Amino acid sequence: MALLTLQPAIPFLLLLLLPAASAGLPGGRTLVFILAGQSNMSGRGGATNGTWDGIVPPECAPSDRIVRLSPALRWEEAREPLHAGVDVGNVLGVGPGMPFAHAVLASEGAAAEPPVVVGLVPCAQGGTPIANWSRGTELYERMVTRARAAVAECSGRGHLAALLWYQGEADTMRRQDAELYQRRMETLVRDVRCDLGRPDLLVIQVGIATAQYNGKFLGVVREAQKAVKLPNVKYVDAMGLPIASDHTHLTTEAQVQLGNKLAESYLETL
Ligand SMILES: *[C@@H]1O[C@H](CO)[C@@H](O)[C@H](O)[C@H]1NC(C)=O
Ligand SMILES: *[C@@H]1O[C@H](CO)[C@@H](O)[C@H](O)[C@H]1NC(C)=O
Ligand SMILES: *[C@@H]1O[C@H](CO)[C@@H](O)[C@H](O)[C@H]1NC(C)=O
Repeated sequence: MALLTLQPAIPFLLLLLLPAASAGLPGGRTLVFILAGQSNMSGRGGATNGTWDGIVPPECAPSDRIVRLSPALRWEEAREPLHAGVDVGNVLGVGPGMPFAHAVLASEGAAAEPPVVVGLVPCAQGGTPIANWSRGTELYERMVTRARAAVAECSGRGHLAALLWYQGEADTMRRQDAELYQRRMETLVRDVRCDLGRPDLLVIQVGIATAQYNGKFLGVVREAQKAVKLPNVKYVDAMGLPIASDHTHLTTEAQVQLGNKLAESYLETL
């Protein structure tokens, strides 16, 4: 008897919960940012020894004004590791997304009423060369699908503010990849802008600092990144940021610094 009376209540509860997940976006305008690239964008801060140390500095703490798009395409409270369920098959840690969002809110949101919300759309996948991100690939299509869903889930109050791109290390190992980088990046930017219907979409690229697995063509990729000749593409340099003991990933502290640099770069465009 108890079961019979409970059963109808379950679908009813689900109906109540599902709309709440999107209508649960607090505040007014939502600034939507796509985060894409490889492991350093996803975040390995504190996670370079086989497990994540779980340390979340205040700059990366959850906030009622920072949401992330879940793997199931719903807004939910954002928390580290931000790429959980997205960058699959890797040990995840702290990335630049949360400190970026906090820094944007500290400036942009302070005066707005109702307050601005930052919506992060994690899309990065560790170890991927730029060829894995060309139009038609799984990662490209996932990114575009997620970006569209993110804006749609804002019920008219969303603004796609920028694509933050941190990638390139995987292209430092073969001369051919390094030499094709500029052209591939320019194509990627044009395609994303076209497919999202935003010809002016701001893109902020992070300039890579050292090469993965002693990739010989670091300099070539760095020059390619700086040479991208398209309007509204900005460049932030990761050179000098602290690298973890694995010699491969930014530390948590470095990710906080990078998040701040990305926010500065974004705020300069306003
Ligand atoms: C990882 O292990 C190394 C060597 O045992 C240690 O020096 C380092 O502090 C550890 N890093 C983290 C983030 O736990
Ligand atoms: C990257 O591209 C290679 C070659 O096409 C493919 O085998 C691999 O599955 C791709 N990886 C991802 C994560 O898309
Ligand atoms: C992470 O970023 C640092 C700084 O740019 C770079 O030295 C390292 O090669 C990157 N690692 C990967 C796996 O992309």
